[in-house]
Amino acid sequence: MAKTLVIDDEPELREFVVMSLELNNFDTVEADNGKKALSILEEEDFDCIVSDVEMPHMTGPEFLKSFREINKVIPVIMLTGVKDLNTVVDVMKAGAQDYLVKPINVDELLISVRKCIEFKKLIEQNIRLQKENERYQQHLEEMVDKRSVQLKDALFGSLIIIASSIEAKDEYTKGHSNRVRLISVDIGKLMGLENKQLQILEYGAMMHDVGKIGVRDAILNKNRSLTEEEFDSIMSHPSIGANIVKNISFFNPMIDCIKYHHEKYNGKGYPEGIRGDQIPLLARIVAVADTYDAITTTRPYRKEKTSIEAVEVLIEGKGSQFDPDIVDVFVNNRLYEKNYIHIDKAEAESGNIKPSTIILDDESSLKIFQKSKKDNSAEPYLHDEM
Ligand SMILES: [Fe+2]
Repeated sequence: MAKTLVIDDEPELREFVVMSLELNNFDTVEADNGKKALSILEEEDFDCIVSDVEMPHMTGPEFLKSFREINKVIPVIMLTGVKDLNTVVDVMKAGAQDYLVKPINVDELLISVRKCIEFKKLIEQNIRLQKENERYQQHLEEMVDKRSVQLKDALFGSLIIIASSIEAKDEYTKGHSNRVRLISVDIGKLMGLENKQLQILEYGAMMHDVGKIGVRDAILNKNRSLTEEEFDSIMSHPSIGANIVKNISFFNPMIDCIKYHHEKYNGKGYPEGIRGDQIPLLARIVAVADTYDAITTTRPYRKEKTSIEAVEVLIEGKGSQFDPDIVDVFVNNRLYEKNYIHIDKAEAESGNIKPSTIILDDESSLKIFQKSKKDNSAEPYLHDEM
C-alpha cells in the first residue's frame, strides 16, 4: 500500500485530504506543520507528500527547501490557496513535483498522487540501475586491472626467460641482466623518470644483451684475447638484438636500450658512434649500470673488482665513456653500497623477480671517489666491449 504524508495546519482541509486518500487505499500520516513533518520524515519513508503552502512556523516552500536538502526522491505536491503564479513557479523550482489549487478536487488529487508515486518508482529504478551500472563498471575495471597485471607478469616472465637463455650461453654473466635492470631502475627513479619511461628502462635493461643470442658461445666464453673477427662478432650484438625485437610491438620501445648501450659519450662506441645527447637517455643509463655490474662480477678474461674500484672506473669515464650526470646520480646516491648481487640472488632463489622500489637520499658527491692518481696503464676494461 502506497504511503503518503499530509501536511496542513487547517484540520478540516487536512482531514479532507487524508480521508480522500484513505478511501482510495492509501496509507496516510498527518502533520500540522512543516517542522513536525520533517521529524516524521527522519523516521519514516513515504511514497508521496501533500503539503499546504500557507502554514505558520514553517511555510510549505520553506519545508520543501529543507526537505530537498536531505531527500530528492520523495515527490511533493503543494496545495496553494490561490493560483498565484509566482508561488507556483517558486515551489516548482524548489523541487515540488506538482501543485493543486484549493478548493481541492478529489479526482485531481488522486491523479496527481498516483502520478507522483509512479514518478518515484521510476526515479528509484533509475537509481538502482545507476548503482548496478557503477558496480558493473567497477567490476569491469577490476577485471581489466587483474588481466593487465597477469599480462604484465607473463610478459615480464618471458623477459626473464629470454635473459636467462642469453646468460646460459655464458656462465659468467648469470644474473647480469637482472642486476643491470635493478641498477638502471634505481638510477631512473633517482633521475625522476616518469613511470612509463621507467618501465621501458626496466624491460630494456633486462633485454639489453638479447643480441648475444646471435654470438657464438665459444666467443662469449673465451678467456684469451679475441681476434678481430671475434671482436666484430661481439660488437654486432646490439644490432642483432635490435633486429630481433624491432618487429615485435611490445619490445619495440626497448630498442634504444638494446641498440645503443655500447655507445660512448665521446662518440667512440658502437654500433653507430653517436655521441652525447644523441645517445638515447635510457641507453646512457643502461651503459652505466652494465659497466658497473660487469666490473663487479668475474668474467672469463678477468676477476671481479670491488664496488669502489668500479666507481673509480665510472668516474674516470665521465664525459668520455659515460654521461657525467648519470655517473653523478649513481655515485652521489651511493648506489654502489647496495648489494645488487645479493638482491639478484635472493630474487632468483625466491622465483620472484619484481621491480625495485628502493628510494635513496640525494647526497652530495663523494670526494673519495674523485680521481686523484689514476694509473693510466691500468688494464683496459673489456666489459664495455662485451
Ligand atoms: Fe652488451
